[in-house]
Amino acid sequence: MAELLRLRGLIKRFGGLVATDGVDLTVQEGEVHALIGPNGAGKTTLVHLISGALRGNAGSVFFAGEELTHAPVHERVRRGLVRSYQVTSIFTRLSALDNALLAVQAAAGSSMRFWTPVRTERAFTRDARALLMRVGLLDRAEVVAGTLAHGEQRKLEVALALAARPRLLLLDEPLAGLGPEESLHMVELIGGLAGEVTIVLVEHDMDAVFKLAHRISVLVSGRIVATGAPDEIRSDARVRQAYLGDELGSAA
Ligand SMILES: Nc1ncnc2c1ncn2[C@@H]1O[C@H](COP(=O)(O)OP(=O)(O)OP(=O)(O)O)[C@@H](O)[C@H]1O
Ligand SMILES: [Mg+2]
Repeated sequence: MAELLRLRGLIKRFGGLVATDGVDLTVQEGEVHALIGPNGAGKTTLVHLISGALRGNAGSVFFAGEELTHAPVHERVRRGLVRSYQVTSIFTRLSALDNALLAVQAAAGSSMRFWTPVRTERAFTRDARALLMRVGLLDRAEVVAGTLAHGEQRKLEVALALAARPRLLLLDEPLAGLGPEESLHMVELIGGLAGEVTIVLVEHDMDAVFKLAHRISVLVSGRIVATGAPDEIRSDARVRQAYLGDELGSAA
């Protein structure tokens, strides 16, 4: 597998607090790479450093062989580095389909400017419906987004992110706030995307992590303390001690 994302020595300080303390991380093309660690470990900060929402104080970000350390969010998105619901957030008064349409149009940008309006609109609608189908929301296309169930809104967010045609999708706690059944649906959805798109998954739900991840990195106090296959992480004494404790026994 080829390396898609490489972080080297990433440091992010908030005043005196060191949120990420020299993070080295490599994500291979095609893998689901889970990032786990206790509350406040720096996971979301790291996601922001990857997406470009935050700039580090030191270190570098390479994506697909190019340095993007100083690239703005839109430049990273253009190259396929996309955080879910970073690009477009849901318009609650519009239908699910119209939300998807807007995301498809935004992603197309000016690349469609030579198309006739009618052909363009048809193509957009077709793509938008395909996205809804992809996340299992096609039968909810005409429903006003704000009235969708919470789990459906999270699926719609994934659809909007997919509109940008990501090569690497960053998901920060996609299961947060979902009920058991909605969680299962989301795990299924993420599992279905795996293989087509590389995924960095931040998640506290260990069942989901061990089900989905090809590799897992453990972040504790801003530092990666271990990276490995799920079995290696499960049996890593440092990881157990630092973070997972008894939770590991119950994870599949
Ligand atoms: N904008 C900010 N300003 C100041 N401190 C921040 C900011 N963002 C995060 N922090 C601090 O940086 C540390 C890492 O936070 P971060 O949100 O990255 O952790 P996390 O691993 O995502 O935690 P959780 O699992 O609870 O989501 C925490 O101590 C947090 O309080
Ligand atoms: Mg977080």
